[in-house]
Amino acid sequence: MIVLGIETTCDETSAAVLRDGTELLSNLISSQVELHRQWGGVAPEVAARHHVEAINPILRQAVDEAGLTFNDLDAVAVANRPGLVGALLVGVSAAKALAMVYGLPLVGVNHLEAHLYANFLEHTDLEFPMLGLVVSGGHSNLALMTGHGEFQPVGHTVDDAPGEAFDKVARAMGLPYPGGPVIDKLATEGDPTAYPFPRADLGETFNFSFSGLKTALLRFLSENKDARVEDIAASFQEAIVDALVNTTVRAARATGVETVLVAGGVAANRRLKARFAEAGERNGLRILSPKPILCTDNAAMIATAGHYALREGRGDGLGLETFATAPLGS
Ligand code: KG4
Ligand code: ZN
Repeated sequence: MIVLGIETTCDETSAAVLRDGTELLSNLISSQVELHRQWGGVAPEVAARHHVEAINPILRQAVDEAGLTFNDLDAVAVANRPGLVGALLVGVSAAKALAMVYGLPLVGVNHLEAHLYANFLEHTDLEFPMLGLVVSGGHSNLALMTGHGEFQPVGHTVDDAPGEAFDKVARAMGLPYPGGPVIDKLATEGDPTAYPFPRADLGETFNFSFSGLKTALLRFLSENKDARVEDIAASFQEAIVDALVNTTVRAARATGVETVLVAGGVAANRRLKARFAEAGERNGLRILSPKPILCTDNAAMIATAGHYALREGRGDGLGLETFATAPLGS
């Protein structure tokens, strides 16, 4: 089965062609990051207009690079939730047009679930139940995955998403958008124990909170103009990593899973990957995360989630809608 995946939930226009769930024939990503840098975040209207310009060429290029034509496709999978509605509409409209013209099955994919499915692209031996952690610019969710497309919520952020915290703190430090990769890089030269920034105590829950940390950072920055930027980056990053790793490992123990899937833009963070590897070894857990290019937004993960949804007999008609919000498993 050859699935075309389409992703336009935020500021990346992406198209990918996937054969049989594991053979990635192409995965093209047109990023608008440079464009949005001037606003220090994503401007929704600008994002939607840029998707309109980028979508047709990138679809053609994805099929070309796969060595195929549109006639060779067996299905179209498109991220239709959650995301910026104007942006989502561009991908969904393109997917519907292709489905109609080429008579292809169409499946709408939950973007958050798709982040976790990036792990299925690289591993074919995954067994349910598993714990999934999605950490991105807009989300922070822990869920028990009991089957394909089946999720039970375990925890979530009560305020900011971790990527959002990275981006806001980086902005206050005068660093460019998106802040996550910049702080990740600076932190490699810094001391993670230099400043003991606060870790939120949410008791026995498996929730996260990053707004107190963000506020503490902003206050610290205004009061310590001469502190080493690398040490600030490393200490701030460590506070986020501590929360994500400790809570996830606790949730894994409580749910009794053996496998944990970590995904989303923040999963590309090197310190987070290293700490999860260490924690996995110490706790007898298999903790996986995709390679960095499959952590941030991409259509390969949409095609992968679509592949499994279609295999389970799921599909949508041309009436497929878009949704600004949608939890895992919806
Ligand atoms: O998943 P994603 O590409 O888009 C959303 O669905 O939100 O995630 C983007 C987020 C941004 O906040 C970005 O700063 C963060 O992921 N990010 C990182 C790293 N790479 C991207 N955060 C920490 N370390 C990184 N290496
Ligand atoms: Zn994402």
